[in-house]
Amino acid sequence: MNASRMSPGVATRVAATRVLDVVLHRGRSLKATLAAALPALADPRDRALVEAIVFTALRQQARFDAALALWLDKPPAGRDGELRALLHAGFAQWELGLPAHALVAATVDAARALGRPHQAGLVNAILRRAQREGLPEVDAAAAWPQWLAERIRQDWPGDTDAIFAASAQAGPMWLRVNPRDGSRDDYLQRLTDAGIDASVLPGAADAIQLATPLPVHDVPGFDAGTVSVQDAAAQRVADALSLAKGARVLDACAAPGGKTAHLLERDPTLRLTALDIDPRRVRRMQDTFARLGLQVDARAADAAQPADWWDGKRFDAILIDAPCSATGIVRRQPDVLLHRREADIAALNKIQSELMDALWPLLIPGGKLVYATCSILAAENAVQVQTFLERTPDAVLQSLDAGFGHDTGFGHQRLPGELGMDGFFYARLRKA
Ligand SMILES: C[S@@+](CC[C@H](N)C(=O)[O-])C[C@H]1O[C@@H](n2cnc3c(N)ncnc32)[C@H](O)[C@@H]1O
Repeated sequence: MNASRMSPGVATRVAATRVLDVVLHRGRSLKATLAAALPALADPRDRALVEAIVFTALRQQARFDAALALWLDKPPAGRDGELRALLHAGFAQWELGLPAHALVAATVDAARALGRPHQAGLVNAILRRAQREGLPEVDAAAAWPQWLAERIRQDWPGDTDAIFAASAQAGPMWLRVNPRDGSRDDYLQRLTDAGIDASVLPGAADAIQLATPLPVHDVPGFDAGTVSVQDAAAQRVADALSLAKGARVLDACAAPGGKTAHLLERDPTLRLTALDIDPRRVRRMQDTFARLGLQVDARAADAAQPADWWDGKRFDAILIDAPCSATGIVRRQPDVLLHRREADIAALNKIQSELMDALWPLLIPGGKLVYATCSILAAENAVQVQTFLERTPDAVLQSLDAGFGHDTGFGHQRLPGELGMDGFFYARLRKA
């Protein structure tokens, strides 16, 4: 059926099903698929509903599959992958607490709109059963590929259950306040005046957590650049760098620009170069800087090949916010658990160590390099720092305080969900 002839209720279920189908069955990234699908829906409330359905379905995928295994002789597969996606979208709506009648009617109509009128009765029966019996509970570890669950167990034996549980929950919405437009307290007052409940976290100086997430354009001052959306764990990278005023800084893996913007909001006099290897992500980063009114030297380049872009003047500080497995932010990117392969880790390790080795000579003596990731795997974090220190005689690990999370001996690890934050790793190295 043509999308323009569907009711909005059916169009949202069809859109959610199609997004889920390609993410679950064709290896496509959630972010890119949503970005392509959402503009077809005119009403922002419909777009928000599709996002809510899709994120819930991916976070609860193991549980929804357990329900299908229980209630169907043969769970849908192959050409019926779209049916699986539709049923997951249906279950997600129960989880979101949508009214039963609207939920069932719209999802059954979506089966017809997807060219599956012969399966409309089945969809109705399964959704009604979920309503009657409730969805089965499964161990949160079931969502993780076995090899990755095993690595987490090895690296974080005492925290494994908490990591899996936190990764299955939606993360809170954190804002970063731009000091250009006033203090964090001024902005908190503005939220209070607008009837928006929010709180702060000692140690994360610019961060505010909203009690309930809002669409970004409903966040006071977002469009004017007064605030940005950024997890408090990511904001702490600026604290780990703790830059001198006007420092010459390289942000080597900068796109989409969240941390670059934070550094410049704190000190617009920084002489900062922002690189990223991906030209499309550099363009996104430039859009972010335009919203915030920041002038930045942002370039598409391979940071590990300084001969291609470096002017020969050394930096006071370097940030490597390295490409990584993203295992610390599964709650925000649930498709990480679908797409990550074991071989990726070794490939990422190679890029991470190449970046550190290539950029260290660009630092002045006495300068500092912060290595950060949104991974919780020791292989990408403490092991990287330890082996770098072993092969780099003039590198010295500097201590960070307990506010950066667990001390691994080679950098600090924040685990997902702790103090409401994403999983993140920070290590600060000083050049002797
Ligand atoms: C974790 S993301 C950076 C997030 C960013 N710092 C922020 O706060 O918005 C890692 C980035 O590294 C980039 N990247 C990967 N390899 C690179 C390389 N050799 N040189 C420069 N950038 C690279 C990726 O394109 C990706 O945008």
